[in-house]
Amino acid sequence: MKIAIIGAGNVGANAAALLIARNVAKKIALVDIAKNPTLGKALDLNHMAALLENDTKIKASDEYKIIKNADICVITAGVPRKVGQSRADLLATNASIIKHASKQIAKYAPKSVIVVVSNPLDAMTFCAHSASGFERGKVFGMAGELDSARLRFEIAKHFGLKNSECKGQIYGEHGENMSAANLYAKGQKISQNLACELENLAKESGARIISLLGSSAYFAPAAGILKICEALKAKNGKVLVCSAFDESGYPCGRAVKFGKKIKILADICELKTAKEAIKKDCDLLKI
Ligand code: LAC
Repeated sequence: MKIAIIGAGNVGANAAALLIARNVAKKIALVDIAKNPTLGKALDLNHMAALLENDTKIKASDEYKIIKNADICVITAGVPRKVGQSRADLLATNASIIKHASKQIAKYAPKSVIVVVSNPLDAMTFCAHSASGFERGKVFGMAGELDSARLRFEIAKHFGLKNSECKGQIYGEHGENMSAANLYAKGQKISQNLACELENLAKESGARIISLLGSSAYFAPAAGILKICEALKAKNGKVLVCSAFDESGYPCGRAVKFGKKIKILADICELKTAKEAIKKDCDLLKI
């Protein structure tokens, strides 16, 4: 398996490290406009592979031709959110970056699956789909697993439980209109009010990290990339929350089953507000 990562900043580089540690790909291609730092990261990552006694080969370049025939292309490129900035503020700037990357992916890796990570996530997933010309089932956004993990962390923290004793997913928009569902904490009852509180904590997690760190999160987003890549490789029917398209032509955070065929599952909760907000952003990009 060959995985291309477009944008080798904190998220992209950490995703590469996780993919190496879990031996997911034979080849990893890092593309970034910052040529020398990316060459340096690739060298470091090649040493990491050697140290862990695996055979992953990592290449880096500021040119897209190194992504040739990749099976998965992950787009993390774009400007990250700064303190006080909403994901929507990034819309126009990142749209042009994502469009360019997606066209290059269509040229060099036309059979790949695209995984978008750049914000605003759902609109950028839409953008990658229209600019690449790929079919709907080959373009996904990575956020639902990240948001769901943040929710499970908050449930576990609230009750003093282990992560593995808590369940829950976040569907809808990677933004204001995310919706928590299926909340579960071993041996506990979760009231409607508490569910709302926990949903809000999950929703605000990204901004909380930005205010502490001065940049957006990267370890957990990188793990979200790893999870989708592993599911795409294994094709064993794992269900993950991803930003995915339905017949409306717009993406939204929903359950996707990664079997031999990739199947978008029916929505299990009301996502009307999220879908309207995403459509509004996407329609701005059509102009
Ligand atoms: C976050 C950014 C990556 O949620 O959107 O942390």
